[in-house]
Amino acid sequence: MSFRIIVATDYQEMCRKAANIISAQVILNPESVLGLATGSTPLGIYRQLIDWCKKGDVDFSQVKTANLDEYRGIGPENDQSYAYYMFENFFKSINVNPGNTHIPDGKNPNAQEECRRYDELLRSLGGIDLQLLGIGQNGHIGFNEPSDIFEKGTHCVDLTQNTIEANSRFFASIDEVPKQAYTMGIQTIMMADKVLLAANGKAKAEILYQSFYGPVTPKVPASILQMHRDVTVVADEEALAVIKQKGYLSRSL
Ligand code: GLP
Repeated sequence: MSFRIIVATDYQEMCRKAANIISAQVILNPESVLGLATGSTPLGIYRQLIDWCKKGDVDFSQVKTANLDEYRGIGPENDQSYAYYMFENFFKSINVNPGNTHIPDGKNPNAQEECRRYDELLRSLGGIDLQLLGIGQNGHIGFNEPSDIFEKGTHCVDLTQNTIEANSRFFASIDEVPKQAYTMGIQTIMMADKVLLAANGKAKAEILYQSFYGPVTPKVPASILQMHRDVTVVADEEALAVIKQKGYLSRSL
């Protein structure tokens, strides 16, 4: 197995360590293509990067970004869209060129066309240098939900009930959670040069164990990362509890 696990005591330390890895990437290659994620996990990572950018320690002026996913049917004007999230929580506070930030267009009703457009765009960027990932409680990465197959390119997904419920905490009511999303596929994620997966809290402990120490199966989409050649998992002690309990982390925790 070719992944490394970096242990953090708590959420804040997890964010600092993940942000350090991202800023190292940008310092080493100022023209990096960063694959970015949403959800609650990366919020502190973005806050830390904003802080360093303001201090002049990291420069995003030549960076390009491509987000993993977007809800289908809503656009940047909707405060629940991932386009809105990225602008509010990251892009508006760093010196990235807005023209270099890319997110699937949730407002394009033509799913086939939008998925093709996004795949072509990713190709034109020359691939992703570092892909940041969170992980869903059911093992989804981006919005690649548990399935019988690993989907390759960008595609339109029906969100599972588990994901709709988990994400309903951001919406006024569960009925407002979109039922579909556009997401990069597993192949796109696997083609990134490096993957950085961040996880915190006990709700992620079991799925982190299954993803990295269980069988590689599309029923647990993140398990495919066992086949990637450069994966770094940065997680807090709560999220690593099951891995530790099974005896895989005795040295570091
Ligand atoms: C969402 C996103 C994923 C994210 C996951 C976990 O469904 N599409 O990219 O990793 O939720 O979210 P959180 O970080 O809030 O636990």
